[in-house]
Amino acid sequence: MTLRFVGLRKRFGSLIAIDGVDLVFEPGKITSIIGPNGAGKSTLINMCAGSYKVTSGRILFEDVELQRLKKHQIAGHGVARTYQNIRLFDGMTVQQNLEVCLFSSYLGRTFAEVFVPGVSQRFKNERAALCREALARFGLTRFAETLAADLSYGNQKLLEIARATLLNPKVLMLDEPAAGLNHGETDHLKETLRSLVRPDRVMIIVEHDMSFVMTLSDHIFVLHQGRLLFEGTPAEVQANFAVQEAYLGSPGDVDGIRVAARNRANRVRLRSNANIERRRPAPV
Ligand SMILES: Nc1ncnc2c1ncn2[C@@H]1O[C@H](COP(=O)(O)OP(=O)(O)OP(=O)(O)O)[C@@H](O)[C@H]1O
Ligand SMILES: [Mg+2]
Repeated sequence: MTLRFVGLRKRFGSLIAIDGVDLVFEPGKITSIIGPNGAGKSTLINMCAGSYKVTSGRILFEDVELQRLKKHQIAGHGVARTYQNIRLFDGMTVQQNLEVCLFSSYLGRTFAEVFVPGVSQRFKNERAALCREALARFGLTRFAETLAADLSYGNQKLLEIARATLLNPKVLMLDEPAAGLNHGETDHLKETLRSLVRPDRVMIIVEHDMSFVMTLSDHIFVLHQGRLLFEGTPAEVQANFAVQEAYLGSPGDVDGIRVAARNRANRVRLRSNANIERRRPAPV
């Protein structure tokens, strides 16, 4: 099923963050959205997931107008996302972080578990199996009982993605999945994301790490000041002069791009580590 943004606009007071954007996302492909800070990438994801109200325009998932729906209804149509800043339950284990997600979506079943004799064990087994599968797929099995706060940053990011994929989403949107990861973690993430491609799944990745984007994406949208600047294959994007000027720095300034991306990633990593230190329970 195809996802379409049609004449999409988002205004925050006097700021027009998204200014009439038309994008088509095909299933079975990895589509990336790139652009400088403040271009409006996260705003697009937030609108599609129902976190931000659309100012005008439509978000069509086949014939469903997602912009008319509430966040939980959009999730019910199989739209899942991760956030630019990790949002895990730090005080819960890895397994619990996954189960919580299943509880909210299995609410009706949870009532049945309480009131219908014999149902309880079946649902418990079903949930456990889903979590086990997800842990295995993301290489997190041995951390099932570890507190989320005690995971490495890379594994926290994997856990977030694992949680988003738990219910087999039809649209999976990842906001800066590689930010703050080292080279090894980035390569592992890339392989994991490739393994998540399905013929009936739209995958959208917002990312600043250019080598990651260029080697992973089938199609790229370049956003600049809330507008679509260019779209094409990785090779077409890299060859485009306007993109190079607007986003990648002056044409040919590849070193500058790499340094900027690395500095940004390091900043994210440092911030995140500081958070983990603060939240980790004191030793007894
Ligand atoms: N909740 C909000 N309230 C007000 N302004 C916002 C809000 N969210 C985003 N903006 C503004 O909208 C513009 C686009 O922001 P957005 O976060 O979508 O950019 P981005 O492309 O994701 O940038 P980055 O690469 O830094 O994450 C920015 O000018 C930002 O300050
Ligand atoms: Mg963003």
